[in-house]
Amino acid sequence: MEAKLKVGILGFGTVGSGVIHILEEHAEKISQITGYQVSVKKVLVRDLEKNRRYETKGFSLTTEPTDILDDPEISVVVEVMGSIEPAREYILQALKAGKHVVTANKDLIALHGDELIAVAQANKCDLFYEASVAGGIPILRTIVNGLAADKIQKVMGIVNGTTNFMLTKMKTEKRTYEDVLKEAQDLGFAEADPTSDVDGIDAARKMVILTRLAFGMNVDLADVDTVGIRGIAPRDMEVAEQLKYVIKLVGTAEEKNGSVAVSVGPVLLPKYHPMAGVNNENNAVFVTGAAAGETMYYGPGAGELPTATSVVSDIITVAKNSKLGTNGNAFNSYQHDTKQTSPDEIFSKYYMRIVMDDKTGTFLKLTQIFAEAGVGFDKILQEPLDDYTATVVVVTHVTSKAQLEQAISRVELEPQMQMQAKYQVVEG
Ligand code: NAP
Ligand code: HSE
Repeated sequence: MEAKLKVGILGFGTVGSGVIHILEEHAEKISQITGYQVSVKKVLVRDLEKNRRYETKGFSLTTEPTDILDDPEISVVVEVMGSIEPAREYILQALKAGKHVVTANKDLIALHGDELIAVAQANKCDLFYEASVAGGIPILRTIVNGLAADKIQKVMGIVNGTTNFMLTKMKTEKRTYEDVLKEAQDLGFAEADPTSDVDGIDAARKMVILTRLAFGMNVDLADVDTVGIRGIAPRDMEVAEQLKYVIKLVGTAEEKNGSVAVSVGPVLLPKYHPMAGVNNENNAVFVTGAAAGETMYYGPGAGELPTATSVVSDIITVAKNSKLGTNGNAFNSYQHDTKQTSPDEIFSKYYMRIVMDDKTGTFLKLTQIFAEAGVGFDKILQEPLDDYTATVVVVTHVTSKAQLEQAISRVELEPQMQMQAKYQVVEG
C-alpha cells in the first residue's frame, strides 16, 4: 500500500485555498512523482463560520494551532497565513517537533530567515519558500539549482504583482490609483496591508531573499534603498511614453568586486527592454550571469493557483526527500561575506521631474548645480505649468549615485525648485 504524507495548513485564504485545490486536483500525478499519497488533514483559520472557496472535504478546520503542530500524523506544515507573528512562532514549533515546513511568507523569510533556517537544520527538517518570490515563477530553484554553475552578476526583477497590475491599468485604462488598488485587492494579489505593496516593501523583502540566494549575501531590509509607486504622477507616465520608456517598479541587486547594491524603485525601462512588456500581475526576473549572459523568467507573480503551484512544488520536494532520506539540507548553501557597494560605485542614468519658478536665471541655476556635481544632461524637456511655474524633466547621462545625491541635496536648498520625482533609467 502507498505511504501517506499528511499535511497541515496554517491559513485558508487565497494561497491556502489554491494549495488545497491543487493537492486534490493533481493527486494522481503527485503520488506517481513522490510515491506518497499526499493529503491535507487539518487547516488552521481564524473564523470557522466564514465561507470558503473550496469544500472542507477530507480534512477538518480548526482555530487551535496545536491541533496541527502537536499532531504526530502531520509531517508537513504549510504556512500561508502571512505576517510575522504568530506565523514565526508556529513555524518554530513545527520545526522543533520535527515537521517539515513550506511557507509563502516573504516578510518572515526576509526578516527571520537565518533563525528559521538554523532551527530547520538543527532538527533535520526541510524549510522551503519557493512561493515567497515571484508567485508562480520557480525562480528560487532556478537560481539555486539551474544557475548554480554560473557567477551571477545582476538580478533585476518586477517582483510585485499588485503594483505591476496597478501601473498597467493606470497607464492603459487611465484609471485612478485608488480604483486599481481596490481591484488588485479584490483579485487577491495584494497583501493584507497593501502598504507593503505600494511602498515597495514587499518587493524589497523579495530582493533580500533573491540577494541571499544569488550572491550568498545577507542584506538587511533597512539597507535596501526602497521607493514605492505612490509618487508616480500621470505626468511621469506621459513623459516616459513620449521618451519611449515604460515605468515599472523594479528591484535590482548587483554585485561588483565582492560588494552588492540592492534597491527597489520606479525605473524607466526602454520600450524594447524584455521587462517593459511585462504587464498586469505578471512578474519577471532578469538574471545576468558571467557565463550564461542574460536570461529572463516570466509568469504570474501573484494569485491563488500560480502561487499555490510553487507551494505544492515545495511539498513535492519534501516528499521526494523523505523517500530518499535526504531531508534537512538547506534550500541554499552558498554563503559570501556581505558588503554594500558605496554610492560612488553605483552608476545609472536618472530621470528627474522638477517644478520651478518660471523666472529668468532659475534654469541656469539648475544647470550650474548639476554641472558642479559633475552630472550631465542627456535630455531636457521644459513646459509651463501655470503663469508662474514650469516643469522641467531631465534625463541625466550615466552618473554615480553619490554625484546625483550631491546635486539633489543642493536643489533641495533652493526655494524656487521642487524635486517631484527621481527614478533610475535603464538602457540596453
Ligand atoms: P489571505 O487571503 O489573507 O489568507 C490568510 C489566511 O490565514 C486566512 O484564511 C486567515 O484565516 C488565516 N489566518 C491569518 N492569521 C491567522 C491567525 N492568527 N490564526 C489563524 N489563522 C490565521 O492571505 P494570502 O493572500 O493567502 O497570503 C498568505 C501568505 O502568502 C502571505 O504570507 C502572503 O504574503 C503570501 N503570498 C501571497 C500571494 C498572493 O497572491 N496572495 C502570493 C505569494 C505569496 P480566516 O480566513 O479565518 O480569516
Ligand atoms: N502582494 C504580493 C504581490 C503577492 O502583489 O506580488 C505575491 O507575493
